[in-house]
Amino acid sequence: MTRTIVITGASDGIGAAAARQLHEAGERVVVVGRDPRKTDAVADSLGVDRFVADYAELDQVRTLAAGLLERYPRIDVLANNAGGIFGERRVTADGNELTFQVNHLGGFLLTNLLRDRLIESAATVIQTSSLAAQRFSRFDIDDLQAQRRYSASSAYGNGKLANILFTKELHRRHGDAGLSAVAFHPGAIASSFASTSRGAWRWMYTNPIATRLLTSTEVGGSRLTWLALGKPGVDFAPGEYYAENKRARTHRIAADPLIAKRLWDASAALTGITEAGVAEADKAEAGTPEAEADR
Ligand SMILES: NC(=O)c1ccc[n+]([C@@H]2O[C@H](COP(=O)([O-])OP(=O)(O)OC[C@H]3O[C@@H](n4cnc5c(N)ncnc54)[C@H](OP(=O)(O)O)[C@@H]3O)[C@@H](O)[C@H]2O)c1
Repeated sequence: MTRTIVITGASDGIGAAAARQLHEAGERVVVVGRDPRKTDAVADSLGVDRFVADYAELDQVRTLAAGLLERYPRIDVLANNAGGIFGERRVTADGNELTFQVNHLGGFLLTNLLRDRLIESAATVIQTSSLAAQRFSRFDIDDLQAQRRYSASSAYGNGKLANILFTKELHRRHGDAGLSAVAFHPGAIASSFASTSRGAWRWMYTNPIATRLLTSTEVGGSRLTWLALGKPGVDFAPGEYYAENKRARTHRIAADPLIAKRLWDASAALTGITEAGVAEADKAEAGTPEAEADR
């Protein structure tokens, strides 16, 4: 049976490679990107549907979720792959530190807005995390916005650790209902990653000599593809973190269920998600006289 696989961050790099591989495997792939031109190029080359959303603006994630719900009666796989490392500390119009919002809050919000459809589809929800969660994070649950302590590296590591904590809590909350969450490290992959960063990160991902040490996007994409095609509970264990298609160690904080719950609660408050999975703003709007008149 052909399945519907939504991949964010699919306009480039690992996501684009995985989109190609899954399309070639006969799956119905939906390409989600930020840059419309790049997104069209990938989607046109495969002849598949495409959506555009910039995660630096949470309303664009809400619009994306509404578009996906309208178009697809089933979503078998959601790959939350959009992400990156940035430079100086920046705060989005939503009031969040940019790295935290793009790497974690955007995917958290999208997943929660699609939650019922994902559960009905017994979906796999994949987070593209990173070894950076273990190597570079300075995770402080009381300073998620990195107001007290910021560096591009630690903000990125924190975002990627948040991907794993989110995976664990998603599994704890909805695993019994049939939703399979999993996180993975794709490898050190030669992509456009870090192109908007500075210093050592930028050098490592742009210098022609340094990039020889990196792995191809095909290999990075194949790790996402492996999870997307895999059978939960058989090929991979839901709620776990993988590297090179094997369960892997990561930061010790990833094993702390209390931190995972606190991160979930904080993320829900920051994105307006309630326990029932609806955005507070939508609920409030639905109750207004204007919204009632629109019915
Ligand atoms: N490369 C590595 O070594 C490595 C290692 C570990 C983990 N990762 C993770 O792998 C994932 C994919 O990265 P990549 O290496 O393939 O890098 P990439 O080639 O730069 O691709 C990043 C993707 O994320 C999208 N994206 C970036 N900022 C966004 C935003 N504000 N809103 C929505 N989408 C946004 C990009 O969209 P546009 O191109 O349309 O702007 C692109 O499709 C990321 O989550 C990254 O953190 C990468």
